[in-house]
Amino acid sequence: MKIGILISGRGSNLKSLIAACAEPGFPAEIVAVISNRPEAAGLAIARAAGLPALVIDHKLYPDRESFDAELNRALEAAGVELVCNAGFMRILSDGFVARWHNRQINIHPSLLPAFKGLHVHRRVLEEGVRITGCTVHFVRPAMDEGPIIAQAAVAVKPDDTPETLAARVLEAEHRLYPAALGLVASGRARVRGGIVEIDDMKGSRCGPMFVPAPD
Ligand code: GAR
Repeated sequence: MKIGILISGRGSNLKSLIAACAEPGFPAEIVAVISNRPEAAGLAIARAAGLPALVIDHKLYPDRESFDAELNRALEAAGVELVCNAGFMRILSDGFVARWHNRQINIHPSLLPAFKGLHVHRRVLEEGVRITGCTVHFVRPAMDEGPIIAQAAVAVKPDDTPETLAARVLEAEHRLYPAALGLVASGRARVRGGIVEIDDMKGSRCGPMFVPAPD
């Protein structure tokens, strides 16, 4: 499956997807990396891997719809079949989300539907939460919502700061996103009745993938 990756910044999840796609037999191929920010460090990661990396600077467009139309044009021109948001920090219009319905996935650093939005790790610590993690889900119009494909749990430690917690969740993200992408790109994960159904290796069906917290 041909995938396009949308980024806005650092690009560490992009890096993990590049590594996964380089594995023999992995069912996805990256055909475009697009950033809405010209200064995104992830652009250099993409170029170093020999991938086409494009900037579509949202500041140069008068409104959300015209930015999204250009984004859509670039994805279609590259032959993208599945869009992967990897730290893409821009809200997409309903029209764009509808165009890529069940063909766009996102990673978020919490166990959704808890802790949508920004400053997730600080809020997790403020609430005294003991288990957090990350989620890969199909994109729907509302931010950080949509059918869950895979989740990984991460235990919160008593002495965690937002930074230490973010680092452990990020490690889990780097494992989870390639695994979830593999399920979608191989056709093993599908949305049915608003919930993701996955074909397991034995040919029977199960719910979204779950990775328990390491000891
Ligand atoms: C990641 O933690 C990702 O889950 C988060 O942004 C970070 C991007 O890091 N995404 C969101 O919060 C989306 N709501 P990266 O650029 O190093 O992949």
